[in-house]
Amino acid sequence: MQKKPPLSIYIHLPWCVHKCPYCDFNSHEKNNNSFELDKENYLAAITKHIQLHESDEREIISIFFGGGTPSLFAPSEINQILLAIKNKYSLHANCEITLEANPGTIDLPYFAGYQGIGINRLSLGIQSFNDKHLKKLGRIHSAEDAFQVATHAKQIFPRVNLDLMFALPAQTMTDLADDIGTALSISPEHLSYYHLTIEPNTLFHKFPPQLPDDDTSAEYQDYIFKKLSAHHYHHYETSAHTKVGGACLHNLNYWEFGDYLGFGAGAHSKITQHNSIKRFSCYKNPMQYIKHTHEKDFYIERKTVTRNELIFEFMMNALRLNDGFKVPLFEARTGLLFTEIALEINQAQERGLISVTDDMIKPTALGQNYLNDLLQIFLRD
Ligand SMILES: C[S@@+](CC[C@H](N)C(=O)[O-])C[C@H]1O[C@@H](n2cnc3c(N)ncnc32)[C@H](O)[C@@H]1O
Ligand code: SF4
Repeated sequence: MQKKPPLSIYIHLPWCVHKCPYCDFNSHEKNNNSFELDKENYLAAITKHIQLHESDEREIISIFFGGGTPSLFAPSEINQILLAIKNKYSLHANCEITLEANPGTIDLPYFAGYQGIGINRLSLGIQSFNDKHLKKLGRIHSAEDAFQVATHAKQIFPRVNLDLMFALPAQTMTDLADDIGTALSISPEHLSYYHLTIEPNTLFHKFPPQLPDDDTSAEYQDYIFKKLSAHHYHHYETSAHTKVGGACLHNLNYWEFGDYLGFGAGAHSKITQHNSIKRFSCYKNPMQYIKHTHEKDFYIERKTVTRNELIFEFMMNALRLNDGFKVPLFEARTGLLFTEIALEINQAQERGLISVTDDMIKPTALGQNYLNDLLQIFLRD
């Protein structure tokens, strides 16, 4: 019998003050006239969904309130969801509870409120500390707001993450160095540094801004990695950098192919059951989610992951980790023998995309840079 992996919970809160032109997350501009009522109905739907979901004997190792902009919900509203979770599941003593926040939506007294209900990690969407770039990115906050909010967060929460993006429209090396310098002066436990990508169905896709070319972007990326490493941040995943002990446990559980339950519009679940892996997806539109949840119709899609998909999905997650994974993890999470992928592993090794030492499989620098090519090797029909 396959041992069940650790279990996390993801809660999706889908509203924002304003839709950013680069963002393809399931997030919707809030309607000021109906927002209080929308929130009330949404909270009722999520708590009902949690209440009626199957119990699980496992302790919850992490909870992540993501969005959208969860900081549009008051501490008492977030607490309604937390109480529903605690009524149904046991939390691990060190359960990491993260809330994503936008610096433009923060009422500073909210921070103490969030901390008071048990939020122990705050993730702030900063993007840049440069007003020129924030404006171009359609952000609702200034560089000064971002700095003040991040500094305040550091005084309240045991762990703070800052989201930043690079290769921004018209960004120079000096702009980048200034952004990193400001981020480092705040000394967050964790930094997520994303390469700005132009996603379909965004305003930037329709009206593309002038971006730094590939060589310049590669130079910026190199600078970020070196600078953060010099300041003792360990680069442990494609975009994630952490001080000792600050890694995001919730995301690590995804990358190590753990299980998770997702509640809220468009949220996904992955559950190991009877030696197979099941995936469920909630209705994506918030109003549809509310409507269907009241009819106890929780999922628009349910599927069992096939054996071939399992191999690819495991690799798609685990090979994002710069330290890679151990053979026993592959076998425990997939229920397959490692020998089943011997041919693929040899091929990836011969192409210099992974290194294999003892029972450790690690993407090389080449493999990290050409992750898609590496993953293609594990794609089976
Ligand atoms: C759900 S948002 C985080 C919190 C909050 N909504 C905010 O923006 O302040 C997650 C993060 O993904 C990153 N992101 C979103 N769209 C991106 C894109 N097109 N390219 C790179 N990073 C992106 C941003 O850094 C953003 O903070
Ligand atoms: S980046 Fe954040 S604030 Fe902007 S639209 Fe996306 S989820 Fe909302």
